[in-house]
Amino acid sequence: MSLQHFRLDGKTALITGGSRGIGFATAQVFLEAGANCLLTSRSTTDNMQELTAMHPDRVAWVQADVTAKETPTKIVKATLEKFGKLDILVNNAGVADNGNFHEFSDGQLANIMDTNFTAPFRIAREAIKPMLDQGAGAVVNIGSISGFVANKPQLQVAYNSSKAAIHQMTKTMAFEYADRGIRVNALAPGYVVSAMTKGGIERDDYNSVWTNNTPMGRFGQPEEMANCVLFLASNAASYVTGATLVADGGYLTH
Ligand SMILES: NC(=O)c1ccc[n+]([C@@H]2O[C@H](COP(=O)([O-])OP(=O)(O)OC[C@H]3O[C@@H](n4cnc5c(N)ncnc54)[C@H](O)[C@@H]3O)[C@@H](O)[C@H]2O)c1
Repeated sequence: MSLQHFRLDGKTALITGGSRGIGFATAQVFLEAGANCLLTSRSTTDNMQELTAMHPDRVAWVQADVTAKETPTKIVKATLEKFGKLDILVNNAGVADNGNFHEFSDGQLANIMDTNFTAPFRIAREAIKPMLDQGAGAVVNIGSISGFVANKPQLQVAYNSSKAAIHQMTKTMAFEYADRGIRVNALAPGYVVSAMTKGGIERDDYNSVWTNNTPMGRFGQPEEMANCVLFLASNAASYVTGATLVADGGYLTH
């Protein structure tokens, strides 16, 4: 056993929603670990432009809405064209929306399910193909503690259901591809500081409930999630497949 197993030298990763938050932190950690990264998002950010300028040979960005019909083929093709292979997929892009179940509109429901479930399904389906040809690969789907519990105080039946679906997709894909060198795992973050949670963290009524229900008494940082993604994506996790790793400061312990 060696720490080398945690490195990603020579590997290529495709990360959706790589412009900020957990996706961007994952790109930074992956680069440090030696991987090449193809990042996708709907728009670019200063941070991402800086990262691309720093490592022009090892990072590329492709504009893509994960819900668009052509996105899976477009981003997998771009990865193969730029880096010649695809070893790791991080299905990270996601959205949240709150509301009473009985008032949640069809449009809100479609937006959540299209982005958080259908898109990761379609993107993984495309990314698996070069992995099958290589006889090796790792998929990390970003789920959530919301896939295990009802979020509070915000009401999020659709979001919670989409993340439970991601956990089940992970387990079932892992079963299907375990004997072909492809591992499939999920990460279930607790409350992490990002654009997604910013509004809630700034509201006392949300912030106090989220903090009080997290035994560590603090929010997670995107880098702490990125470290977990690195483990799951790396050979250090060579016997781990079908798992949903919970990184939540203890939220699910009670
Ligand atoms: N922040 C948390 O507390 C938390 C907790 C559990 C799970 N998560 C999950 O982590 C993942 C990353 O979220 P984050 O916290 O970094 O939030 P974030 O809002 O900063 O990042 C979400 C990313 O997804 C991208 N995205 C959203 N819709 C997209 C679309 N249609 N096409 C392309 N890109 C799209 C955004 O542009 C952004 O880059 C999400 O799947 C989220 O559900 C977050």
